[in-house]
This record gives sequence, C-alpha cells and structure tokens, in this order.
Amino acid sequence: MALYSEKVMDHFRNPRNIGMIENADGIGEVGNAKCGDIMKVYLKIENGIIADATFETFGCASAIASSSMATELIKGKPISDALALTNQAVVEALDGLPAHKVHCSVLAEEAIKNALKDYYAKNNMEYELDLLPDSESCIHGSDA
Ligand code: FES
Repeated sequence: MALYSEKVMDHFRNPRNIGMIENADGIGEVGNAKCGDIMKVYLKIENGIIADATFETFGCASAIASSSMATELIKGKPISDALALTNQAVVEALDGLPAHKVHCSVLAEEAIKNALKDYYAKNNMEYELDLLPDSESCIHGSDA
C-alpha cells in the first residue's frame, strides 16, 4: 500500500490557497521545534465568515497537504466552524496520514486557531479562548 493517499499527493503537488493575504484580518504562525517546520495561515473574515484563507508552509509534504486541505475546509464557513476544526478532521479529509506524520496536521489546526486568536485580539473581542491553543506550546510542537 502507498504510504500517502492520492489526496495527500494531490494537495502536496497542487496546493490550494498558497500565499499571503494583504491586510489579513488574522495571521497565525506555528512551528514544530523537533522537525523545524513552520506554518503561517492568513484569514480574511467578513461578517463572521471566513471569506478567504491562505497559507505559507515551510515544511514536509504532509504539512503542505494539511495546510492546503485545512484552508479548503474552512473557506466560506462561519468562524465557529473554523474554531472547531480538528487535526483529525484534516487527516480524515486527506484520507489518512501515516501515524508518524499526524503531527503535521496538528500544525494546521494550531495555525488556524492562532490566526483566529489574532483576529479576536485585533478586534478587542474575547471568544471561547479555551478552544485556542496556548501559543507557547505550539512553538514547542507536538508529537501527536
Ligand atoms: Fe514536521 Fe511534517 S515533519 S510538520
């Protein structure tokens, strides 16, 4: 059996939503200290909807595929859906990742939550902060 699903290969070879958004409403950056990979997510938010989501990922194929899929999953959705996005949902949408690559999908979840955290901070709003990752722990990464 192939190590990576066709969907992972597709999103790695043809990543959707790559690049930055000028004047983004929220920007979230995370890194995994062990592998050194870094992911940055940009959000445009209009009337509580994720109008656009893009990413810049300096990392492995699974991290690129995860950020591509994660941004696809939240585009056009309400903020609450984006906040609820889990790395497991990203893995399922990609038709799976090898166990030792699941941590790459965690970066996508954390980068989106940090971008939303940035959005709320910029707008002086508090919103279910317990759903948001502790940015310190993101920098140190996860072995999940
Ligand atoms: Fe680090 Fe994939 S190996 S994010």
